[in-house]
Amino acid sequence: MTESLTVRDNRTGVEYDIPITDGTIRAADLGKIKAADPATQEDGPGLAVYDPGFVNTASCRSSVTYIDGDKGVLEYRGYPIEQLAEKSSFLEVSYLLVHGELPTKEQYDAWVHEITYHTFVHENIKEFMEGFRYDAHPMGMLMASVGAMSTFYPDAANISDPENRRLQIIRLIAKMPTLGAWAFRHAQGKPYVYPDNDLSYTGNFLSMLFKMSESKYAPDERIEKALDTLFILHADHEQNASANAVRSVGSTQVDPYSSVSAGVGALFGPLHGGANEAVLRMLRRIGKVENIPAFIAGVKDGNERLMGFGHRVYKNYDPRAKIIKQQALNVFEVTGTNPLLEIAMELEKIALEDEYFVSRKLYPNVDFYSGLIYEALEFPPEMFTVLFAIGRTPGWLSQWLELVQDKEQKIARPKQIYTGERGLDFVPRDVRWA
Ligand code: CMC
Repeated sequence: MTESLTVRDNRTGVEYDIPITDGTIRAADLGKIKAADPATQEDGPGLAVYDPGFVNTASCRSSVTYIDGDKGVLEYRGYPIEQLAEKSSFLEVSYLLVHGELPTKEQYDAWVHEITYHTFVHENIKEFMEGFRYDAHPMGMLMASVGAMSTFYPDAANISDPENRRLQIIRLIAKMPTLGAWAFRHAQGKPYVYPDNDLSYTGNFLSMLFKMSESKYAPDERIEKALDTLFILHADHEQNASANAVRSVGSTQVDPYSSVSAGVGALFGPLHGGANEAVLRMLRRIGKVENIPAFIAGVKDGNERLMGFGHRVYKNYDPRAKIIKQQALNVFEVTGTNPLLEIAMELEKIALEDEYFVSRKLYPNVDFYSGLIYEALEFPPEMFTVLFAIGRTPGWLSQWLELVQDKEQKIARPKQIYTGERGLDFVPRDVRWA
């Protein structure tokens, strides 16, 4: 059966057959639907779709991440997130995302070796990071330093060479924790710590964050595992705002550092990376378990929003939230429990049974428990999105890699509906202001 859509343009009475492929029609096919402008009788521009926020527009074909929001399914390259979080490591998941398949032992060892080898950054990067104000937001520092890396690696502009692309991908995944940790140390007025390449990817990150005068930092394995799992859970989420920013900037064929810094910028926004901080503020405001019913009543009256609940895509339990909840419990074994945990768990229990939330399919999302873990690890809220950015880097790069190899992709250049004036006569200032 040929799948197609028949549309009749009631302006002209003409019918069009538009092919349907993979549940989509090509917007360019709609462009063939034209009607004469009533004023001039000339053919007007073809029909276009108006879709602010891309709520129903596919911008690419992608084989990186699959989400079924109704069933609460998330897969990277076909592998369920639950299995990857339990059995894999962040670097293995990064390899999977970037290469499309799991590594052999040799490939894995070489990948880990290369990433470890590239964790250091040029001393000039350290110097310019030191030039930021004492209270600079670490996300601003990260965004600027990732963008600045394009000046240290001008060869990255050669994006048509696969070997060159691979090298920049390794550099970016390797150096993000160094930049993120230094942004953290900067705000604390502490000296930057150089990478320790004897440690794992996450262990080294913890060392660069927290090492003081000890000659060797020994990360707690449970914390290392929890942070590694959090990175896995954040590694990709298909065409979200920051992946779209990376792709949009990347579509100009600029180098990957410039594209990824655009992704960091998009993630910086409170509608994308900042909800876990809002969860903490909400839990603190609720204060104690006895206050939950009054808070829930406020949510139902529309005076409050239950932060960390609901999702544009997931209309079921966000699969990442379940895994994070377990990791939170593991972390609290080491750090001692966060008093807000009791409120969070009770809030979740009540909300999951309440008709308001059930009927609207509002379930905990990835941010409901992640802020509690980050706080227990003594990260200030400004660092939460930096952690997200480090985890998301392989996803951004996989999306970028797919984009630059996709023959169908073009420079991202949306249409607009022009609503302004036309053909005005410019009156020079001496006449206008006379
Ligand atoms: N608390 C109370 N009511 C809610 C909530 C909530 N958190 N989320 C949605 N609703 C209600 C909403 O008021 C609406 O009710 P009604 O039909 O009576 O008007 C209904 O549920 C549908 O909501 P919506 O606003 O159409 O949903 P959306 O897809 O536009 O919004 C959302 C999704 C994530 C912005 C929203 O659920 C929200 O604001 N949640 C809280 C913030 C949050 O946790 N954000 C993190 C998202 S996960 C991050 C990531 O994956 O990157």
